[in-house]
Amino acid sequence: MNLKIRTMEKADRKKLIEILRKTCVFRKNEIAVAIELIDIYIKNPKQKDYIFFVAESNGVVAGYICYGQDNCTQGAYNIYWIAVSPDFQGMGIGGKLLEFAERKIMSRKGEIIVVETSSTKKYEPTRKFYLAKKYRAEAILKDFYKNGDDKVIFIKRLSKNNKKFMENSNGKMEKNVA
Ligand SMILES: CC(C)(COP(=O)(O)OP(=O)(O)OC[C@H]1O[C@@H](n2cnc3c(N)ncnc32)[C@H](O)[C@@H]1OP(=O)(O)O)[C@@H](O)C(=O)NCCC(=O)NCCS
Repeated sequence: MNLKIRTMEKADRKKLIEILRKTCVFRKNEIAVAIELIDIYIKNPKQKDYIFFVAESNGVVAGYICYGQDNCTQGAYNIYWIAVSPDFQGMGIGGKLLEFAERKIMSRKGEIIVVETSSTKKYEPTRKFYLAKKYRAEAILKDFYKNGDDKVIFIKRLSKNNKKFMENSNGKMEKNVA
């Protein structure tokens, strides 16, 4: 598989929306918010609040990640969205997108990455994904989304050990930042 991670372009919009719908996990209102973020980036790719990268497998857009710094903090970043088309799930693409964003965040001196998800059964693979990528379920907000649907807040601290590990596993840390 020839995997390329690149910045998002306006032409990706339609495909990304299709991927969001195809995953079958996001509700309509969540997809609407995801599209809002896509449009913020398309309108102004230089803003730093919502940074997007797209994964292309053999020239086909397979997934994307959106992250940004929490502006009230010194080094906390949120992963706002990550989605891989079901046609490409389980092939390592989500992991590569996440690691790519982590390296970018480290190059910006980020210290902590936060990602939120739901406690429901349909998000079990997503929770396993974050755990596999060394995120820790740091907090649970009971019934946050609705009764019986908690918010699970995962975090990863970019400690010196983590940074060293990522430098070794990915060669030189990238100097170019989004
Ligand atoms: C979560 C998601 C981004 C993962 O992307 P992916 O490309 O399928 O994940 P990868 O193939 O890179 O998997 C990385 C690791 O996560 C774990 N993982 C991924 N999917 C899993 C599943 N269904 N069950 C258990 N573990 C899983 C595996 O341990 C895997 O490690 P491995 O390389 O040892 O197999 C993707 O499944 C997706 O888009 N899901 C729907 C949208 C979503 O939930 N987004 C997050 C919103 S909070």
